[in-house]
Amino acid sequence: MEIRGSSGQGGSGPGAITPDGSPVELYVDTGAHGEDEVIASVLPPRADILELGCGTGRITRPLLARGHHVVAVDESPEMLAHLTSETVRSSIEDLRLDRRFDVVLMMSFLINAPDEPVRRRLLETCTHHVRPGGVVILQRHDRASFAEPLVMDREDHRLEIHEVEHLPGDIDAATMTHTVAARTWSQRVVVQNFTDDELETLLAEAGLGKVGYLTPDHTWLTTHLL
Ligand SMILES: C[S@@+](CC[C@H](N)C(=O)[O-])C[C@H]1O[C@@H](n2cnc3c(N)ncnc32)[C@H](O)[C@@H]1O
Repeated sequence: MEIRGSSGQGGSGPGAITPDGSPVELYVDTGAHGEDEVIASVLPPRADILELGCGTGRITRPLLARGHHVVAVDESPEMLAHLTSETVRSSIEDLRLDRRFDVVLMMSFLINAPDEPVRRRLLETCTHHVRPGGVVILQRHDRASFAEPLVMDREDHRLEIHEVEHLPGDIDAATMTHTVAARTWSQRVVVQNFTDDELETLLAEAGLGKVGYLTPDHTWLTTHLL
């Protein structure tokens, strides 16, 4: 199997599908599940936020509602069409704005990209755009979620994790199939797992440190310019 550099490997289902396989209509219909609360816990008032990989603005909207300013970045024009905030269409790796932010937010396990040069470039984008004294907020993959196949039902949303593979080098692959109101989307995902030490080494190589974990499972973390 040829593995794409980013964690999303491709997908299928009704409506537009992004290059990494994310289904646009699924994200239009999905709200926040507490992610905004975790993020808000470390935001200064009226923060200037750069959100990388914003999708349809599922988390952008609650951040705007809290009085923050968000520049939302995604490579998918179909995703960005749903945003009401300032947007930039770009790959995260290539983004170089002449502007620094109080907060750089990169969630959705993008940091677990299986390709090391891609991971480095993603983090270099975070380093480039955070102001001195600002904070980078990252969400990483929870290795337990791809340990074995499972089915999760939340209200009218069924998520099946199947075709699970454990590959050499602590890489996991799985297909995530979402069914909402009789519509079904599948996305193949490949993630590089990290220990905390491995992640902190990667951050340090990108000029980031002073790591703080926001959740007991260490999937949400903050980091700062060294
Ligand atoms: C799984 S969706 C999640 C969207 C949003 N973070 C959320 O939680 O609702 C991932 C998004 O990141 C975008 N994305 C993935 N890799 C990207 C890259 N390298 N550069 C720009 N956008 C990227 C995809 O187009 C997609 O909109």
